[in-house]
Amino acid sequence: MHVLSADQFSKSELMKLFKLASEFRELDSTEQGRKTLFEKHSARQLCSLFYEPSTRTRLSFETAALKLGMGVVSTENARDFSSASKGEILEDTIRVLDEYNFDAIVLRHHETGSAVQAASVSSTPIINAGDGKGEHPTQSLLDMMTIFESHGRCDNLKIVIGGDLKHGRTARSLALMLSKFDGNQITFISNNELQIGDDILSALKDNNVKFQKTSDMTKPFIDADIVYWTRLQTERLDGLEASIDNFTITTDIADSTPDGCIIMHPLPRVSEIHQDVDANHRAKYFRQAGNGLYMRMALLDSILTESSA
Ligand code: NCD
Repeated sequence: MHVLSADQFSKSELMKLFKLASEFRELDSTEQGRKTLFEKHSARQLCSLFYEPSTRTRLSFETAALKLGMGVVSTENARDFSSASKGEILEDTIRVLDEYNFDAIVLRHHETGSAVQAASVSSTPIINAGDGKGEHPTQSLLDMMTIFESHGRCDNLKIVIGGDLKHGRTARSLALMLSKFDGNQITFISNNELQIGDDILSALKDNNVKFQKTSDMTKPFIDADIVYWTRLQTERLDGLEASIDNFTITTDIADSTPDGCIIMHPLPRVSEIHQDVDANHRAKYFRQAGNGLYMRMALLDSILTESSA
């Protein structure tokens, strides 16, 4: 019932969500379709509880809920504007929201493990919208949808994931979700202090996913099907002096990838992908963000349908 980790989704659940999300995109493109969507979940309510800044995740979840006819209650800076600033622990806040009988609570929080903590005291479905350096499972859902949309499959792909992989939760969740499919090969590009965590690598090993860690900014791109880039997570460095300036996607690098390769980024992009890459046909990050709306509609719909079954 709760959505806490990318690891919890099976291959068949993912395929169902991709299909539903594209159906919702189609429906959203016509007046009649919009009405059909709007009638789906009226008299249902979503609570959107964000302790950390967000543009896409919060707005797409809230828009998704509204398009499905739901009501939305939202706090966008709960760290300062909720009782957390008075010292209330997350569990108590969740216990109270649970009393209000929402149909789902979307939670973004700065502490790793916070979503699991919240779920432990909640009978309302908790959706992890990013927990510190932990995970961001709904981002990986829309990432995988974007991969499926452009390649027609999520298996037997060569994926290059780069940037700040130590503190970035999207790369971690994506790697876990890719490991559900056979034959994927992942190359993690970063410097040593910002490389992907051993917990993710051991999950990949358990699933027989081939991977390598490198700082090479040339060879891995030559036969890549997907390049997934991330920003330096400056708010999570805890005093670590780190930089990813040597890991920037330029037009030359973009052009060195195969023609069918796609370049992805969870956004916000800072300077790790040059803006002139945006005009390259491989750049898919804005479409990817758009997929977030339809994937979150699909996710909410499946949670609500399941809970009323
Ligand atoms: C990501 C996040 O919050 O982890 N943003 C998002 O949800 N698209 C990536 C980031 O902030 O770098």
